[in-house]
Amino acid sequence: MSTDHLFSPFKVKSLTLKNRIVMAPMTRSFSPDGVATQAVADYYRRRAEHDVGLIVSEGTGVARPASLNDRNVPRFHGDAELAAWKTVIDEVHAAGGVMAPQIWHVGAVRTRDPDWTPPGAYDSPSGYSSPGHQFGEAMTDAEVADTIAAFGKAAGAAKALGFDSVELHGAHGYLIDQFFWGGVNLRDDHWGGKTLPERSRFAVEILKAVRAEVGEDFPVIIRLSQWKQQDFTHKLAETPAEMEAWLRPLADAGADIFHCSQRRFWEPEYEGSDLNFAGWAKKLIGKPTITVGSVGLSGEFIAAFGGESSQPATLDRLLERLDRGEFDLVAVGRALLQDPEWATKVKQGRNDELKPFERQAMGVLY
Ligand SMILES: Cc1cc2nc3c(=O)[nH]c(=O)nc-3n(C[C@H](O)[C@H](O)[C@H](O)COP(=O)(O)O)c2cc1C
Repeated sequence: MSTDHLFSPFKVKSLTLKNRIVMAPMTRSFSPDGVATQAVADYYRRRAEHDVGLIVSEGTGVARPASLNDRNVPRFHGDAELAAWKTVIDEVHAAGGVMAPQIWHVGAVRTRDPDWTPPGAYDSPSGYSSPGHQFGEAMTDAEVADTIAAFGKAAGAAKALGFDSVELHGAHGYLIDQFFWGGVNLRDDHWGGKTLPERSRFAVEILKAVRAEVGEDFPVIIRLSQWKQQDFTHKLAETPAEMEAWLRPLADAGADIFHCSQRRFWEPEYEGSDLNFAGWAKKLIGKPTITVGSVGLSGEFIAAFGGESSQPATLDRLLERLDRGEFDLVAVGRALLQDPEWATKVKQGRNDELKPFERQAMGVLY
């Protein structure tokens, strides 16, 4: 199938992309004590040099003591940290690239490192790591307010440093998603409630704070998922009507692009239609959407963490959906982690040069 649509330009607000390929955010843990190194800048620059339309950075922490659960994940606050990000965006721009940081708070997903803990208590809506598993205390109102402000400040810093957009990590069972999720958000105040729109107020206030910092024309992306790392089968929105009630307030509060995370992009969201999550979000809300999940590879990414390798796979099913306008942009994770030249190879039809994904790539900044 033709890749013309994949390599056609795209524009939203001040963001102009030369094509529809987005590098998916991927935590790399190569930033000692939270400061990105020159090797990290080089890693992103290589994707900019090789036809990636929009690079979304690895998740990078907002200014809360326990926003991150890994000492080598970059922070997005502090002088040294932001200076390092300035090097990254300057190098990406010099190579003709466009980039958004993914700003992140891990919430109740705690560290697996026995030798390190974050310098403060973990934030979470109700002190639950998963339904039925309490480990700590609910965030106070002051902590919620401070966290909202921290997201706003990080977005403001992204714009000030020269980034082209910003993405909020609202997916995969991390802090923003923990507020969405009734199984771990048991609050009965303004930040909780029986309905998804009530539990979305935290994300709404974050989006408003972000918008206040970046102005009207700067595009804001929010990444969302129905699935959680704590429960792959969970669905926040069981029906299209529930999805609309979830996403509409987020759009009204300032989300310009919905990044709809699935593990396999071809899986239908609801019975009776083959539309995926990004397809439904676009149809219901009318905003641009990004799809993601096993693009160009035979296996999905959670199995990859367990050591499974994946072979290159045809893009035909993806290109068909893109052609019919189901979504606007396509995020690619592991294929781009393994091979900085992936987009160029696809563009030039060098399909026999596409690489399998091997878990060992997670330990290298190719
Ligand atoms: C090593 C690795 C790290 C990841 N880190 C993040 C992250 O920081 N933020 C995020 O939203 N998703 C993260 N993901 C998920 C990816 O963005 C993407 O959704 C997933 O890998 C599926 O895309 P793929 O099948 O093309 O790899 C990560 C995935 C991998 C493989």
